[in-house]
Amino acid sequence: MPYDTNLNFIFWCPTKVVFGENTALDVAIEVENLKCKKALIVTDRDLVKNTDIPEKIKKALGNLCVGIFSDVEADSGVHIVNQGAKIGKELGVDCLVSVGGGSAIDTAKGMAIILKEGGKLQDYAGFQILTRPQTPHIVIPTTAGTGSEVTYIAVIKDHQEGRKLLFGDYNILPNVAILDPKMTEGLPPKLTAATGMDAMCHAIEAMHSLQREPVADGMALHAIRLIKEFLLRAVQNGKDMTARGQMLIAATLAGSAFSNAQVGLVHALAHSVGARFKVHHGLANSILLPACLRYNADVCGDVYLNILSALGVNVKGIPVDQAGEAVADEIGKFTKELGLPQRLRDAGVPEEGLKECSELALSDGAIVYNPKFISDSEEVLKVYQQAW
Ligand SMILES: [Fe+2]
Repeated sequence: MPYDTNLNFIFWCPTKVVFGENTALDVAIEVENLKCKKALIVTDRDLVKNTDIPEKIKKALGNLCVGIFSDVEADSGVHIVNQGAKIGKELGVDCLVSVGGGSAIDTAKGMAIILKEGGKLQDYAGFQILTRPQTPHIVIPTTAGTGSEVTYIAVIKDHQEGRKLLFGDYNILPNVAILDPKMTEGLPPKLTAATGMDAMCHAIEAMHSLQREPVADGMALHAIRLIKEFLLRAVQNGKDMTARGQMLIAATLAGSAFSNAQVGLVHALAHSVGARFKVHHGLANSILLPACLRYNADVCGDVYLNILSALGVNVKGIPVDQAGEAVADEIGKFTKELGLPQRLRDAGVPEEGLKECSELALSDGAIVYNPKFISDSEEVLKVYQQAW
């Protein structure tokens, strides 16, 4: 799958990345660098209830912090964003510091829009609608997976309408991402594994995407190497700061790669089982990845040989037409080692629900970037069945 001979691409990642243990405690410097004076922390309830992380960040911000908005929940909603923005406006905030996983980060991306533009969040759904930079936003991730700290995408659910809204705009890319391994120390092993596999899928899907390009490929390849080397370590010992740090770097690399090159079939299928049966996003990706690799194998053999090498496999002697099978097996072995469920049936998806998910997946935006054209729900169903 060579690059197009008339290769044309834009790679865009203006987010400043700060890495290191305890760097989150220097967040005030980043607020000052952005010339801001009133920061609002955006975080989720569980983090406030179960950890001292939001309080630590508040303390680190000192007088620059005007409050903590902690109503974010999993699958954050439009109503939460609108409510957070209303509070932010009342407090006169000029900067947001999101602390959490993808949901908290995406909520802050939505709030950044409303604080700047006013109106209702629903009015800004879509792609490249905004015309100017939004409210400054610093991200402190507490999981290593979504990559949302460096992506131009936010996914926010409209609970009233029962659908997820997609916001894709260069103007919502966060200004700063602070990758502090200490912030992910308390993430339980199962979530560490599942979110880490989300990053693995971002990297692999960026590499086989129709919009693949060499800059994103380089980042994705290194992300795969790091995940293979450090994810199991982070799962087995959450206090292993080297592994935690390298996983944060991997998630950011993979996030930036897919923010530019896009994702494909794995994400389209994962979004649908997530929406319909609430399967955790990273877990759904992890289960679906081998079946999707097998589906794409006949057009991606050379890419999959590169991925196998990054996974540490000696590819000498593996024919290009067997690379798909080999990489799918290797991923299966890896996720077993991580202790993750292997089948959709083990993740609460009933067999009779697959048909509905197949139809849903066909309308998912990610599917259009899949290297192999797929427009028949029966074909999608076959991939689901393999993973069931
Ligand atoms: Fe993802």
